[in-house]
Amino acid sequence: MQTDHFGIFRNQDSDQLLKQAEVPEVAWRSPSNIALVKYWGKKAVQLPSNPSLSITLDKAFTVTRLKAFPSDGRPGISLINGASDHPFLPRLQKLYAWLATEIPFLKEINVEVTTENSFPHSTGIASSASGISAFTLCILSLATRPSSQQELPPSFFRAASFASRMGSGSACRSVYGGFTVWGMTADVAGSSDDEAVQLKNMVHPDFERLQDAILVVSSEPKSLGSSLGHSLMEKHPFAAGRFQQARQHLHLLLQALQSGDFGQLAVIAEAEALSLHALLMTSHESGLLLRPGTLEIISRIRQARRQGLAVFFSLDAGPTVHLLYPEKSLAQIEQFIRQDLLLYCENGKVIFDHCGKGPIQIKALPFNP
Ligand code: PMV
Repeated sequence: MQTDHFGIFRNQDSDQLLKQAEVPEVAWRSPSNIALVKYWGKKAVQLPSNPSLSITLDKAFTVTRLKAFPSDGRPGISLINGASDHPFLPRLQKLYAWLATEIPFLKEINVEVTTENSFPHSTGIASSASGISAFTLCILSLATRPSSQQELPPSFFRAASFASRMGSGSACRSVYGGFTVWGMTADVAGSSDDEAVQLKNMVHPDFERLQDAILVVSSEPKSLGSSLGHSLMEKHPFAAGRFQQARQHLHLLLQALQSGDFGQLAVIAEAEALSLHALLMTSHESGLLLRPGTLEIISRIRQARRQGLAVFFSLDAGPTVHLLYPEKSLAQIEQFIRQDLLLYCENGKVIFDHCGKGPIQIKALPFNP
């Protein structure tokens, strides 16, 4: 049976929203995430070709604010950060138009968006995951009439994950804190291709506050965007093997997460990161995104692990290295980074982050008793 994710938002109307004394305003802070099992390749309407698993970050986030106004005749987003030609506008406008097919009152208003990331551009942190999820959470909050101080219901977050997916696949995982899975798999009860689910009672306490030191090797813009990358998987000679590998990796990684097996977690996560880049390099339009510094850092991380340090790496689609380690090793890791890795980072740039609790609502509509 298909779930109607947006039924709960259809009792909002533009008159009700705009009759308030002040301009209606909502705001959310939503984090980015780093996948340990990668989503690379999609089918139909933004559905993943394989299930993926990620850690929601904490310090790498986007804060987005929305103000609603009566429509000027061209409903949708009028301004982003004060500009009517902001580079994100086409992407967010497309998502807004899709949301307006589900939540009709959106066709009767304009919204002004302000949005800011806590992290610099082109550092290897997925700004689409944090930015798209923050925007979606804001739109759904405009469509929510809070009647008391109660927490938002799970159905709100399910809809937010579903809708974020339409803007950027990986964004659907940022709607929840901790570890999340997107894509149907027999290994996770309730998992779905439509939306992400949070892993509950499936993560060993040692991993709940997994740390991520983000080592920025180069901030040059990426030469291959993710939309093109996903589409290249359609004719990729390794596609079938890759989708099977991702399923096996997810199975093994979930076992490691549950049992607290750091060694197995490290081996699988690293294989996933390199598999993503192998696919990129062997695509028809080849993307060679790793830099010499990336490879140096990777080999030093592996050497340190062989010598007993609890550490492993992940990569997104770029040269930045995500160095992952348990909270208890923080002091040792800081020393390792300072002595062995910092020289490969652009201007010594490292962002210390960790597994976080998920999005935070900063401003809601006034209560409506
Ligand atoms: O969400 P998209 O369409 O930008 O795809 C992102 C894919 C990767 O970041 C490379 C991997 C992942 O699962 O996050």
